[in-house]
Amino acid sequence: MEHYDPSRIGQCISLLFGEHTVYRYGESEVIKFSHVTHLLRDNEINYLRRDIEIGEKYFGEYMVPTRIATRADGKRPVLIQPFVHGRILEKSDLKNPALAQQYRDIINRHRRLLEDGHPAIDLMSGIGFLLGKPRNIYLTDEGMLRLIDVTSVEMFSAPFRAWVERRQSAMLERYVGM
Ligand SMILES: Nc1ncnc2c1ncn2[C@@H]1O[C@H](COP(=O)(O)OP(=O)(O)OP(=O)(O)O)[C@@H](O)[C@H]1O
Ligand SMILES: [Mg+2]
Repeated sequence: MEHYDPSRIGQCISLLFGEHTVYRYGESEVIKFSHVTHLLRDNEINYLRRDIEIGEKYFGEYMVPTRIATRADGKRPVLIQPFVHGRILEKSDLKNPALAQQYRDIINRHRRLLEDGHPAIDLMSGIGFLLGKPRNIYLTDEGMLRLIDVTSVEMFSAPFRAWVERRQSAMLERYVGM
């Protein structure tokens, strides 16, 4: 297991109230520390592995390559990804047919994941759920949609999780006017 190097951690680039604190890592990567999920579940690393595996299986190229690293003592797993040059997808971006088509592809893939019995991926991300905006879908400077975060909602209790999954599916479809 890779150990992250604290001396390579740079500027913080996330909002205060997010679930992760995200920093630049070295020249071209980011490193993500989670605040909540490691408190909610033992064996955090197994859940992270599972989320990454499912993300890769269902979203392929759309998912930003993600790896797990730990502190030198093997504890407190973190996620490391390439730094993506881009920004959060806006609803107005979906007027572009090429982007709308990628977006539909992503939500169709997500529907397949649910049909296969996996917990939803939190595509809206915290405050995005309140705003009806999928904050985990990024638009790169090259005009590609990318998922920057594939955390699943499995840590929620069953009735709440079912409600979140229904609400999210409706919001994702409304965003593109399906
Ligand atoms: N790979 C990346 N490249 C560039 N910026 C990133 C990357 N991953 C995350 N960020 C930045 O950090 C922010 C938060 O990332 P992330 O979604 O992983 O955490 P979060 O806790 O779910 O936050 P939020 O609730 O804002 O979505 C993103 O909105 C983005 O600005
Ligand atoms: Mg997020």
